[in-house]
Amino acid sequence: MNILIKEKHLYDIQAEVTVVFALNTDELLHEGPLKELGFKASQDETCYLSEFKTLYVGVEANEHDLFRAAAATAIKTLSKFTYSSLKIAQYDVNNKEGIFTALIEGIILGAYTFDMYKSEKKENTIKEIVFSSKTLEDEGSQAEILEKALIYAYTVARATNYARTLVNMTPEDIFPLKLAHVAADLAKENNLECKVLGEQDLADENMHAMLSVGRASRHDSQLIHLTYKPKKPRAVISLVGKGLTYDSGGLSLKPAASMVSMKLDKSGACTVLGIMKAASELKLDVEIHGVIGAVENMVGGDAYKPDDVLTAKNGKTIEVRNTDAEGRLVLADCLGYAQEKIKADYIFDYATLTGACLVALGQYTTGIMGHSHKLKHSVGRSGTNTGELISALPFNRYLKKQLKSEIADISNISNKPYGGAITAAMFLDEFINEENKNKWMHFDIAGPAYVESSWGYNSYGGSGAGVRVTLDWLMGLK
Ligand code: BES
Ligand code: ZN
Ligand code: ZN
Repeated sequence: MNILIKEKHLYDIQAEVTVVFALNTDELLHEGPLKELGFKASQDETCYLSEFKTLYVGVEANEHDLFRAAAATAIKTLSKFTYSSLKIAQYDVNNKEGIFTALIEGIILGAYTFDMYKSEKKENTIKEIVFSSKTLEDEGSQAEILEKALIYAYTVARATNYARTLVNMTPEDIFPLKLAHVAADLAKENNLECKVLGEQDLADENMHAMLSVGRASRHDSQLIHLTYKPKKPRAVISLVGKGLTYDSGGLSLKPAASMVSMKLDKSGACTVLGIMKAASELKLDVEIHGVIGAVENMVGGDAYKPDDVLTAKNGKTIEVRNTDAEGRLVLADCLGYAQEKIKADYIFDYATLTGACLVALGQYTTGIMGHSHKLKHSVGRSGTNTGELISALPFNRYLKKQLKSEIADISNISNKPYGGAITAAMFLDEFINEENKNKWMHFDIAGPAYVESSWGYNSYGGSGAGVRVTLDWLMGLK
């Protein structure tokens, strides 16, 4: 799909179909026929006037995320037709409101389909989308600004789709070593460094918490370390991803219904890969390290058990009381690895860590947790900029007590049924060194990472949650 900007008025651009985003029904060119068909311009409402080859899509208010959703609706509607080119007017001179960026992202996210496992594949007939850079009033738009925004939005949305596909692939197709190959391919393509640690290396690094989780799997666990190093980086950031290529729960086996879709448990890893893909393509001047714990949590005679006591990389002992709380064990060691090997200014981790985060915030919102209010605020702002829903969940010293163990330094689950998203993050906090407390932030993406029924521009399956918000945050990093 080719997206271009032309320095012409909409009516001077050649294309088969015109897409019009309508905030209301007044003063529209085809007001009469639209009224006749009952078009109300409500959000995502569509009306196609074949006589005029124009698709109208409603937008409830002048907000970028509503345009993002409407653009996705437009492209989904048109993909059922056979047209190959379409044109769109200018709604935001010089991208001041981020609406131009949103339209590009909405189109690319909305056009996404996942048909790897379908025998019949449908090809999108739309080959060219042309944006006009001129408004009727002609407020002096600058092509350069729009071109830049186009490249940014295009790159970020494609990287999001890349993460979505990885999440959507089955555990038979993406197991830990396969994920390492995916990372190696990305490294080759985008000029990154890639180091992969197998089980012997993990043992040499004393990463026994991570190793225990993967012990019953026929697939060896892998730690993947990708590095993007620009010439003069303004900052160094470590991105740590939970890469459970399958989470059966282990001996604390998940009930049948909760196990379905647990291929999603590698989403944090896929988010890290997506961020690194876009950051390297956009040549951001931030040094980025991606550290991924790729593990499969299975059952078997060799499985780790409730009652085991594990020693993590940093020397702390962990009493296992539930083998389904495995992500935090993998992350404890990966965070230890990242802190030992990389002198970073920021450490972000991404994980589908807790069902409790869904209970707390709903399925659309990422929970962010950490000690630095400043960091939480700035990531929250990036959430607003990108339309990704983000909310902070606060730590407190009372909840921390729920992780006490009678026989080890800490238990891997809380002894109370409340506040599970926060206690999971407080468990991770045990593995953050004192000097890094304010550099660290945890993203629990258990809700938005996987879409069970589509919402906005997110269709069924992996969503790439965390990719767009983090890239926006990296762009604003001073
Ligand atoms: N991967 C799951 C969390 C999850 C649940 C992600 C639903 C996405 C959707 C995680 O490993 C897990 O099983 N957590 C347990 C923790 C509990 C045993 C303390 C949970 O949330 O039930
Ligand atoms: Zn689990
Ligand atoms: Zn899990």
